[in-house]
Amino acid sequence: MESTNSTNSTRSAESARDNGAAGNGGNAGAAGSDTVGAAPAAGAGLTRRTLLGTAGAGLVVGVGAGAAGAVALDRSGPGDAAPSGPEGAAPALGPARVPFHGERQAGILEPQQARVQLAAFDLADGAGRDGLRSLLRRWSRTAARLAAGEPADEFENQVALDAGPCSLTVTFGFGAGLFDKAGLADRRPAGLEPLPAFPADALDPARGDGDLFVQIGADDALVAVHALRVLQRQAAGTAALRWQASGFARTPGATPRPMTGRNLMGQIDGTNNPKPGEEGFAAKVFCAAGGDQPAWLAGGSFLVFRRIRMLLDNWEALPVDRQERVIGRRKTDGAPLGAPAGAVESTPVDLGAQGPDGSLAVPADAHIRVAAPAANGGAAMLRRGFSYHDGLSSDGAPDAGLLFLAFQADPRKGFTPVQRKLARGDGLSRFLRHEASGLYAVPPGAPEGGYVGQSLVD
Ligand code: HEM
Repeated sequence: MESTNSTNSTRSAESARDNGAAGNGGNAGAAGSDTVGAAPAAGAGLTRRTLLGTAGAGLVVGVGAGAAGAVALDRSGPGDAAPSGPEGAAPALGPARVPFHGERQAGILEPQQARVQLAAFDLADGAGRDGLRSLLRRWSRTAARLAAGEPADEFENQVALDAGPCSLTVTFGFGAGLFDKAGLADRRPAGLEPLPAFPADALDPARGDGDLFVQIGADDALVAVHALRVLQRQAAGTAALRWQASGFARTPGATPRPMTGRNLMGQIDGTNNPKPGEEGFAAKVFCAAGGDQPAWLAGGSFLVFRRIRMLLDNWEALPVDRQERVIGRRKTDGAPLGAPAGAVESTPVDLGAQGPDGSLAVPADAHIRVAAPAANGGAAMLRRGFSYHDGLSSDGAPDAGLLFLAFQADPRKGFTPVQRKLARGDGLSRFLRHEASGLYAVPPGAPEGGYVGQSLVD
């Protein structure tokens, strides 16, 4: 049997874990932070999110008092208030915290939150290395305060006043253009070379790239927007907002039990991501010292961003059985096509399986066949994308799709070869348009008292 996916899919419906993921990136399970060398802080955050998701789900099925207690123990900080609602109601999402400081930046290994704000800034002429350093210091200090449920120490506008941190994470990345502007050209990672142009790309440069990238995730829209607004005001004079995008995923507790999320095409999405407990996970996602990558990036990662518009009118005109053949999985439960009766989402894919007429059950151009690591020299990435819906475009079709985000140790061995192949031979690409793109080096996390990017700038 030719099999591509692992049996221990983190996004399996059975796995007891947070249910916040949607978009194209079901991500790291609760386990495995030891294996990947994640910071204790990040590991603690995962635990909290997992407990919270379990508790939220528990409410619906009538369990969860213990988990609610665990979340409540975690509550602290001046912004915290008692969970709202009647006695015995769901534990609030608000008190859940993900520490900002740690070996890795937060927002990579944690499950996706319900809301995301993505933004990129361009460094002002003349800001230089000193300007960059002081901005990164301010941003890190503020991100740490907000993640702990404290107000910002400057430009606080009270937008999130009544809410807890809602699992807020702020993740910073550096675009290729930053290095020349900040006088750091000799420290630019080789992996930051521009992504090649792919067939059918329709990229708007004004909605992609940028010197400084920020990913802000939270389980509340106001909390996420508040953080973005504060960071933007702190940047004034040093860096100007270049583009911004809002995204969403499933809200924890929305489903009766933790489940892999769905994207706007209705597919269960995120099943076959690398998992933190797996052998080789860290090597796929995080940069190691040595090779042609600079020492300052060790423990960091690369992030590929693509704003991928879904041509939903065309997609929804396709009968469901044909939609399933485009992906290679059942729409209802994400089970792979051609799998034996009783198969579930986590059932391993059998790319050799045949239908009754002898044809391939997972068609030759099915997305999971073309994208599979086995078909791409082992190329792997941690997908952690969010849906977006920005109203209607001029032709009346929804301006909606996926804010694709994929963390990887080296885009030259991860995203680029896979996208090359997808752009040529993926049945799904007929229903997609890549409208913006960005590639960022994501530095390692900051210890208490330090700031993100310190290993680059100091
Ligand atoms: C809007 C665009 C996209 C949609 C809707 C989409 C949807 C999906 C779905 C439904 C799956 C199966 C479930 C899973 O394992 O997560 C999947 C798998 C996958 N996708 Fe995508 N995807 C998109 C774009 C991309 C892009 C741009 C890449 C990388 C260049 C990519 C790489 C992968 C990989 C590596 C897998 C796992 C394949 C396997 O080993 O089974 N996808 N995608």
